[in-house]
Amino acid sequence: ADAPASAAKGGCPFAHAPAPSAPNGCPVSHAAAAFDPFSDGYQQDPPDYVRWAREQEPVFYSPLLGYWVVTRYEDIKAIFRDNLTFSPSIALEKITPTGPEANAVLASYGFALNRTLVNEDEPAHMPRRRALMEPFTPEHLQHHEPLVRRLAREYVDRFIDDGRADLVDQMLWEVPLTVALHFLGVPEEDMDTLRQYSIAHTVNTWGRPKPEEQVAVAHAVGNFWQYAGQVLDKMRANPDAPGWMQYGIRMQKALPEVVTDSYLHSMMMAGIVAAHETTANATANAMKLLLQHPSAWREICEDPGLIPNAVEECLRHNGSVAAWRRLATQDVTIGGVAIPAGSKLLIVTSSANHDERHFADADLFDIRRDNASDHLTFGYGSHQCMGKNLARMEMQVFLEEFTRRLPHMGLAEQAFSYVPNTSFRGPEHLWVEWDPAANPERRDPAVRDGARSPVRIGEPTGHALTRPVVVERAEPVAEGVVRLWLVAADGGALPRWSPGAHIDVECGDTGLSRQYSLCGDPADARAFEIAVLLESQSRGGSAWMHAHTHVGARLRIRGPRNHFRLDEGAQALVLVAGGIGITPISAMARRAKALGIPYVLHYCGQRRATMAMVDELHALHGERLHLHVGDEGRRLDLPELLRVPQPGTQIYACGPTRLLDALASNSTHWPQDSLRVEHFTATVGPLDPSREHGFEAELKDSGLTIQVRADQTLLQALRAANIDVQSDCEEGLCGSCEVAVIDGEVDHRDRVLTRAEREQNRKMMSCCSRACGQRIVLQL
Ligand code: HEM
Ligand code: FES
Repeated sequence: ADAPASAAKGGCPFAHAPAPSAPNGCPVSHAAAAFDPFSDGYQQDPPDYVRWAREQEPVFYSPLLGYWVVTRYEDIKAIFRDNLTFSPSIALEKITPTGPEANAVLASYGFALNRTLVNEDEPAHMPRRRALMEPFTPEHLQHHEPLVRRLAREYVDRFIDDGRADLVDQMLWEVPLTVALHFLGVPEEDMDTLRQYSIAHTVNTWGRPKPEEQVAVAHAVGNFWQYAGQVLDKMRANPDAPGWMQYGIRMQKALPEVVTDSYLHSMMMAGIVAAHETTANATANAMKLLLQHPSAWREICEDPGLIPNAVEECLRHNGSVAAWRRLATQDVTIGGVAIPAGSKLLIVTSSANHDERHFADADLFDIRRDNASDHLTFGYGSHQCMGKNLARMEMQVFLEEFTRRLPHMGLAEQAFSYVPNTSFRGPEHLWVEWDPAANPERRDPAVRDGARSPVRIGEPTGHALTRPVVVERAEPVAEGVVRLWLVAADGGALPRWSPGAHIDVECGDTGLSRQYSLCGDPADARAFEIAVLLESQSRGGSAWMHAHTHVGARLRIRGPRNHFRLDEGAQALVLVAGGIGITPISAMARRAKALGIPYVLHYCGQRRATMAMVDELHALHGERLHLHVGDEGRRLDLPELLRVPQPGTQIYACGPTRLLDALASNSTHWPQDSLRVEHFTATVGPLDPSREHGFEAELKDSGLTIQVRADQTLLQALRAANIDVQSDCEEGLCGSCEVAVIDGEVDHRDRVLTRAEREQNRKMMSCCSRACGQRIVLQL
């Protein structure tokens, strides 16, 4: 496990004539030559430190490290996808080879850390991963939550009256360590010693210890190794005790070639580090980031429903694993750069997480970011972190505890220091302070125990991402229609949106929500405009809206989200609105005008008095606006409008089903996908197992095949197997649960994909669509 770096420090892997002008006499750029992941710049902010690379030289050779460094999202994800070409075997290799003295010390302890899971190649790895996966599934992890909560509460008790604490030393190191030991099944002795051991392991694996430090580190690592062996021996005496290691010992009986002795000893040591240091650091990074963004902190204090996504955004923005490693097993090209077989790769996942190509406004810390969980902090594919959902659960519980009991805390003045290394990253200390007299539980002791419902284990869903807004203006704009201007409750800017987008307004605590298309100007970041049809006779959502949308009312909204995107490359547009369906269509017309796309706007209604926004549309669109008012005898003649198909012209429509159906039946002779309509109601009913069949889904990137039972959606089966897939509506409307299809015919049931997209069979909505046959193959 201790092979020297393939390219010696300062060496050059290229065959070339000396180029005297370049550093090292070889074609390594100056910036690449200066790259030093042990320097303070990298330690403080890895993605910022390699920004130049992400932008200009995304794959470069580091002579200092002897590694190729990869910095962009797509390149890194492709590397994670292919663990045969890119072997993980060097993941735990010492990045700084140690000298003979330290090696002798390690040998004296019989140190033989070898393959675990994270650095195991195929075909050995997947059978082992599958054999050991069950204790990590959401179903099994929920049993650990009460312990996490109890520990979090007790540790906060210890310092809550002090007004000041180092969260790392006083809580964040020990609690995840205790949880890790509990999960693994290791007795909770020697916690301090274990902390020293695991820091030594980090330095030994990913650090650059000076020769004089190497020996001390080697002793600690050697002791850690022996300690792991002793614990394992004790466990073997009582293999029925709970714990993941005992689970492995029991599995060894059935599968001795898969779960080997060498594996168990190495995992005993690596497992302690994997399970605790990562999570301790991740929480410290998250708290630092949140307290540095007081408005985000305030928001999660006020609405703990935002915590799951905030955890994900923290892992993206400032995760605890900054970079990971792979070995190229054959000549390959990454991001256009030819890389010879045998090259070592440092894949800077923290840089991928700040790649503008994947994350809009990537440096912005946005706790509502809808693709936050696309981050690569847990890796991806067949080696993706098995413990991710335990880590997520712990982080959620810690943040719930802090926001509930210490919402008034802030960062103390301090300089942050990090243990210099390429990969494991978190501040060594995190000092926070608050006024104990203002502790909420002094006023209301019930706050301490705050009965929170269990966290949702797994990747967050979009459901909980609400945003408080205030009705700033309300104006009747037609009979029964009120136009509302909604501004952020904190007066700040609202997120950007594009025509066709809608928001969901939650109807108080009724559990109901209503969807409204945005109809204002997308350039206005201050207010969202919606037009609400108040059906005074109705019950439920509409009645709630009727009673609660007066000026000054505070509402909770979700979104904006867009399932009805305007194709800005269209040659021409026919825009058709019926009744209140004018809202998204008006935003599209405004955009078409701004872009100079030729368009016509047909607006239909029963009576003129019920049609909103007519004057304003007239002023903006002049002759392009065609009004069709039923009781004035001017109905829209659809057969005539659509008589001659116009290739390159797109029809966008929103309105009553009757109108949309008529458009569909009158446009069958148009090119495929010419007609795009907005759907607010799903066609999928609840799953009826008696009418479904089960099927098999092969997940190419993860190397798994899962069974989807007749009484399960594909999305549910994926989540039960610990595969992250985003979701929001879960009824085939929003498109967030899309997965890529490699093979097998899909029974599409969503309302997102167009006819052509369905026929291509390249993607599907996992919340509702299923396999036609017995099997599908997915890029997951
Ligand atoms: C693998 C990060 C918490 C157990 C990994 C990998 C990363 C990672 C980057 C390698 C992924 C790859 O090669 O694609 C993290 C982070 C954590 C965390 C950032 C906390 C925020 C945990 C916890 C446990 C754990 C709590 C155990 C209880 C594992 C295991 C693997 C792994 C067993 C190896 C999986 C395999 O190769 O098949 N983790 N981890 N991790 N992690 Fe975690
Ligand atoms: Fe909305 Fe599946 S979650 S379409």
